[in-house]
Amino acid sequence: MMTLSSVVRGPALLPIIQADTPTQAVQIATALQQGGIGSVEVVLRTQQALGAITAIRSALPELLVGAGTILSAADAKAATAAGAQFLVSPASTPHLLEAMLATGVPIAPGVATPSEIAMACEFGLTEVKFFPAHLSGGIAMLKALSGVFQQVRFCPTGGINQQNLADFIALPNVFVAGGSWLTPDKLVHTQDWAQISALAEQATVLANQYKA
Ligand code: 3PG
Repeated sequence: MMTLSSVVRGPALLPIIQADTPTQAVQIATALQQGGIGSVEVVLRTQQALGAITAIRSALPELLVGAGTILSAADAKAATAAGAQFLVSPASTPHLLEAMLATGVPIAPGVATPSEIAMACEFGLTEVKFFPAHLSGGIAMLKALSGVFQQVRFCPTGGINQQNLADFIALPNVFVAGGSWLTPDKLVHTQDWAQISALAEQATVLANQYKA
């Protein structure tokens, strides 16, 4: 099984794209790419999210494009059929893990507790999403987990921002940091692509300081 960390491109960042249309998704992805981003997660929270994945794959072939908010076996299948190159979920159940693994693409299922991490390990996984990272204990929790789950690496998501990014990304058990802070609704709706590129560039500089 390929791990997500082995396929992630660019800095250790996984910005979220939540787009109303495939065209808007490509505009957001282009702005992120211009800021140095190499990998993005399109969340299945809008009607056209699957079309957005396909559109970004075709318009920006150098970007790695995954699907997030995978909540069912049907989501996992539809996302990979649309071209998703990895899958991320906010939660873990045995059924969901089986379905995500069955797609054959790298996955990062969501965990917030030691028992959920242990379950992911039982499925042979060593990389998971830590969600919601800030509310689930943040940096202190990740440090506490590092002692017992020495082989597990995390993608913290939920509450990551430009201010705390360095603290998260500096942790040895964090392989990539995700979230929506590079693509805030306000900038998307005002089509301020230059500002999204600028945010991405700042985050890229920070991420590359800790994870080259
Ligand atoms: C996710 O989908 O991973 C989270 O909603 C991202 O959380 P954030 O908006 O706090 O970055």
